[in-house]
Amino acid sequence: MLSYHKPTEFGLTAPPAASSVPVVVLSSRLLGVLPLAWPSPSPELRSHAIVKRLQLFEFHDLEWFPHSWRIMLTDVLQFSGRAFNPYAPVVDKLKPVLESLNCHNIVDLCSGGSGPILPLQRLLTEKENYPVCVTITDKYPNLDAFRQIRAESKGTIMAMEAPVDATSPPEDLKGFRTFFTSFHHFDEPAARQILADAAKRGAGIGVFECNRRSLLMHFAMLLSPLFILFITPWIRPFRWSRLFWTYVIPVIPLVTAWDGVVSNLRTYSPSELRRLAGSISQDNFVWDVGEMRTMVIYRVTYLLGYSKTIA
Ligand SMILES: C[S@@+](CC[C@H](N)C(=O)[O-])C[C@H]1O[C@@H](n2cnc3c(N)ncnc32)[C@H](O)[C@@H]1O
Repeated sequence: MLSYHKPTEFGLTAPPAASSVPVVVLSSRLLGVLPLAWPSPSPELRSHAIVKRLQLFEFHDLEWFPHSWRIMLTDVLQFSGRAFNPYAPVVDKLKPVLESLNCHNIVDLCSGGSGPILPLQRLLTEKENYPVCVTITDKYPNLDAFRQIRAESKGTIMAMEAPVDATSPPEDLKGFRTFFTSFHHFDEPAARQILADAAKRGAGIGVFECNRRSLLMHFAMLLSPLFILFITPWIRPFRWSRLFWTYVIPVIPLVTAWDGVVSNLRTYSPSELRRLAGSISQDNFVWDVGEMRTMVIYRVTYLLGYSKTIA
């Protein structure tokens, strides 16, 4: 089936008049395929594709999804975050903002198994000479991972063992709020609420996503089961159940592939993040949205919000 692409619908620039032929793309909304006949795609178009954001479900968001499986999924993310640290370049953006706020406390929301937090905290503290303490939180805390990171960090990473909903973090949880690979979980009203709450409380906020709505990223996610088969013996803590649900009945690889593709499809593009941030009426807040290159095919989309008076 064929369909016409309407670029302005997504706040993107229309193609130049020279291309008088209507741009026709294969109807590939579900796959996020790039148009085959686009004259000169903007970098954003090339990387985020043109499909509208789709708020499909991820298994590990479902209330009934077994917690033991959810933990194994977030352990995979933690292993990747620590082994490859795809968010390392965000330190260049994060440090000046933290410095300008004179803030040494980070509250990481939707932490899962802690993701990239430990390597990032070490980069800031040891390489950048900017010590930070981090509190990790989640709606469904992965307690084993939380305790392991707390011990490894010698107490500089603290863990909230009670559930914390990122849409309404408790007031006494003070610090610069971060979201890694997780902001896509929230539909537009919830995403707006998260940004508005940070602005209202004057807490700085940083949203960082490696996912994107591009064919290449869907392809990478579809290959992720192979990666999981390869890395599972090295994931800690060792669990027989992890081997069972990976190699005997491959729930973890298959759910990771589904959740990964859906994460891509739910990820906000920079222009969508800009629009969300623009709808927050808080005069003294600066919003900075953009993209950074990181390892191989990955790019990090970021949104930073912080108080203008201090910046
Ligand atoms: C894809 S994982 C990312 C985990 C981690 N940030 C990382 O980089 O590995 C998303 C996490 O968001 C959590 N989550 C989803 N909805 C949430 C909410 N409303 N409040 C807090 N956490 C939530 C899930 O439990 C899950 O651990």
